[in-house]
Amino acid sequence: MNKQPVAADSPGSAAPGVATPEQVSTGSTCRVEARGVGKVYGSGPAAVTALQNVDLRIGAGELLVVLGPSGSGKTTLLNVIGGIETPTSGRVIVGGRDLTGLDTDALSEVRRTMVGFVFQFFNLIPTLTARENVALLAELTGDTRRDTVQQRVQQVLAEVELADRVDHFPGQLSGGQQQRVAIARALVKQPRLLLCDEPTGALDPPTGRTVLALLQHLAHGEGRAVVVVTHNQALTAAADRVVRMGSGRIVADQHNPHPVDASEVSW
Ligand SMILES: Nc1ncnc2c1ncn2[C@@H]1O[C@H](COP(=O)(O)OP(=O)(O)OP(=O)(O)O)[C@@H](O)[C@H]1O
Ligand SMILES: [Mg+2]
Repeated sequence: MNKQPVAADSPGSAAPGVATPEQVSTGSTCRVEARGVGKVYGSGPAAVTALQNVDLRIGAGELLVVLGPSGSGKTTLLNVIGGIETPTSGRVIVGGRDLTGLDTDALSEVRRTMVGFVFQFFNLIPTLTARENVALLAELTGDTRRDTVQQRVQQVLAEVELADRVDHFPGQLSGGQQQRVAIARALVKQPRLLLCDEPTGALDPPTGRTVLALLQHLAHGEGRAVVVVTHNQALTAAADRVVRMGSGRIVADQHNPHPVDASEVSW
């Protein structure tokens, strides 16, 4: 795969062989769309421009990897497309719903029902066990039937290979295990859009491959839109598409016609 960064600030400027956002989503149901999105934190001399004129479409069944230097806007992009932050300009459309102008209740409903987040720093509740951390999210989605919730919680914890650690507190788990609890927590709601910030950052290569395989399956096998922010170049081999960010902009957007199986990724 050609991994050279290519200037592609506007859809028309991509180099030959590099898919534009328009081309990439052709033929698939568009799950998420960012149009001319900008995000400025603060105001006056202290203002920080975190995103500038970002155009991005993410199709169902697509595994998208986002790379870029620290401070380039990757987390901000995830937060904006997941409805955690409101863009300063532009629009975000998720599952056919335009998030622009939604009130806090409506935004919360979109996040609760459609979006799963795996945060950069896990955000597990230290006083709840792995099982309870995951169940909390399942219950928040409105499914309060205890047996159904417990069954699903057990199932997702098994999927991330933590069936034997369900009653451990975060402080009793390794960094990689906590990361997998965070992934299970995002999966338990069966979100159509899964947004992951450095989901393999704390993992050793075998565990990282396991998690990557899971993310690949969620996209290719289950038709979810999966976005993975990472500093790990190795993940690009397994992605359908690689977006590179620099100074709040998308500086390259490349389609990978032959993503390799996660098990074959050399870390
Ligand atoms: N809440 C905030 N208030 C002010 N500035 C912020 C806020 N969040 C992010 N920023 C700034 O926005 C820019 C983009 O930050 P962001 O967290 O999106 O970067 P990143 O690409 O995720 O970096 P990293 O790889 O270090 O996680 C940075 O300059 C950052 O300092
Ligand atoms: Mg970040």
